[in-house]
Amino acid sequence: MGRRFQKQMAYITGVLRRRAPHLIGHLRTARKAAAPPDFYPSDIPALDPRRREDVFCPYTQEKAYLRGTYDYLRALALVPKHAVIAGYVNRLASRRVLDMGCGTAELLAHLALGVAYTGIDLSPAAIGAAKARYGDRPNTRFIAGDFSCAPMPSLTFDCIVWSGVGWTWTRAGGRGSDVNDLNRVVDRAGGHLEPGGHFIFEAIPGWWETLERAFYADYVLITSCDLHCHQCRETPRRDIRVLRRRAPGEAR
Ligand SMILES: C[S@@+](CC[C@H](N)C(=O)[O-])C[C@H]1O[C@@H](n2cnc3c(N)ncnc32)[C@H](O)[C@@H]1O
Repeated sequence: MGRRFQKQMAYITGVLRRRAPHLIGHLRTARKAAAPPDFYPSDIPALDPRRREDVFCPYTQEKAYLRGTYDYLRALALVPKHAVIAGYVNRLASRRVLDMGCGTAELLAHLALGVAYTGIDLSPAAIGAAKARYGDRPNTRFIAGDFSCAPMPSLTFDCIVWSGVGWTWTRAGGRGSDVNDLNRVVDRAGGHLEPGGHFIFEAIPGWWETLERAFYADYVLITSCDLHCHQCRETPRRDIRVLRRRAPGEAR
């Protein structure tokens, strides 16, 4: 039956091609128009809504990694975000990067080898995975700890990256914002950033309006870009801001 149908279709197509070639074009257009309306990227891991809650609280970050809730960080969809951040690091000629809330250090897949890198993350599982992949990279160190209070090496950096950390780390967690927490962390990060150094900040939209207050006093906004990384349906957009720390005494 199938072969007979195919033969008949081949015959009809042949006749059409010879006698009414313009109809073939219409047929192709009709087939394209019939494509499913929800032709969405397949590289988006489905998130179990119960597990998804884990990413919103500082105390459940480790659980989120162990249960695979953060697997999406390695999705192809997030390549543009890391590539753009690494592109900024490259153009700004930064040599010493601190990655706050580095997760599994996906940024390292894009950073030039000559750039010294320090990644700090709350989750020992994430740091373990980062070490397994990049432990041999020159000038690379990882710290498992809380960036708001962990003892940090007395190093200064010329670039700090804050990528995708959002509010998960604040006391309020995913249930709201605590700008005082953010001020504290920006101050702490600033203590490790040399004057004139850069802060590259990436978050989903809607937060920057609040967050910019934490940076306004000590930083100049240099450039920004908004990307659509289709890592999930609800919030595909990622906003990236590049700030420069003012030199002491530099006018606002
Ligand atoms: C969405 S992941 C982003 C990971 C990575 N920056 C990226 O863009 O792929 C957020 C990360 O922030 C880390 N994090 C949250 N609160 C933290 C804290 N107080 N100190 C250090 N890391 C923290 C989490 O453990 C998690 O790995």
